[in-house]
Amino acid sequence: MTRLAIIGGTGVYNPRILDDIRETVQRTPFGDVTVTIGSHAGEEIAFIPRHGALHSVPPHLINYRANIMALNMLGVKSILATAAVGSLNLDLEPGMFVLADQFLDFTRTRKSTFYEGGEQGVIHCDMTIPYCPELRQALNKAGEELGFSIQNGGTYVCTEGPRFETAAEISMFKQLGGDLVGMTSVPEVVLARELGICYANISIITNHAAGISPNILTHSEVLQVMKDSTSDVRQLMMESIKYIKADKNCDCAQILNETGVSK
Ligand code: HPA
Repeated sequence: MTRLAIIGGTGVYNPRILDDIRETVQRTPFGDVTVTIGSHAGEEIAFIPRHGALHSVPPHLINYRANIMALNMLGVKSILATAAVGSLNLDLEPGMFVLADQFLDFTRTRKSTFYEGGEQGVIHCDMTIPYCPELRQALNKAGEELGFSIQNGGTYVCTEGPRFETAAEISMFKQLGGDLVGMTSVPEVVLARELGICYANISIITNHAAGISPNILTHSEVLQVMKDSTSDVRQLMMESIKYIKADKNCDCAQILNETGVSK
C-alpha cells in the first residue's frame, strides 16, 4: 500500500530521491497518469512531477483532477507537495521554506472539483483549514531539526498564471493578507480534501514578488533558486516521514462521512 505521495513542483522532477523505483500508469476518468513508485526507509512512496518530467506543462494546463485521482486510486492518504513561490513580505527571504496554512484563490479557468452534481447530488466540501495541520507539524519538526529556515503557517495566494503578477496585484494581495504567491496550490489542495487525503504545501521562496523586488521577474531566477534548494527540499521531506503517523487525528478525511466515497 502506498500511503504517502510527493508532488514535485518546479525544480523537483527527479524521482531518484526514492529507492527501487518503478512506474505505473493509473487510468483515471480524467486521463492516464504515470506515477513513479519507490521506497524510502521501508515506506512505499508515490511521486508525480506536477509540470511533467521535462517541465512542459504550465500551471493552468495541469490535469490536477487526474493527478489527485491517480494517487487516490493507489491508496495514498497523505501528500507532500512542493511549490516555488514569490514572497509578499520582506521578512520572508528567497531560499526560506514556508508551510502554507491558508490560501486565497485567484484562479479562473481550472476544473477545481470532483463533485459536479448529477447522481452524486450537490456536495460542498469544508475548507476551513485547507492544509493538514499534522503534516505541517511533521515537516516543521524535521525542518527545525535540520536547522533550515522554515515558517509554519502563511497564506498562499494562487494566481491563474502563467504570467507573473503586476505590482498593483501584489499590493492588493498583500492588503488582503497574502504572504506568498504561486500558481499551483489551487485546486490541488482542494481536490485532495474532496477525497479526504491529507495535503501539505512546502513553499520554497524563490523571489520577492512583483513591485516588492526592485527588479523585474524572470523564470530563470526562479529555476536557479530552486536548483540551489532542491537537495534541502528532498531532505526536509524525507526527514519528515518518520513523524507522519498512519492514524492521524486531523479532520481532513471527514468529508468521506458525507460523500460515502470510500478511499
Ligand atoms: N509569482 C507567481 N508564481 C511564482 C512566483 C511569483 O512571484 N515565484 C515563483 N512562482
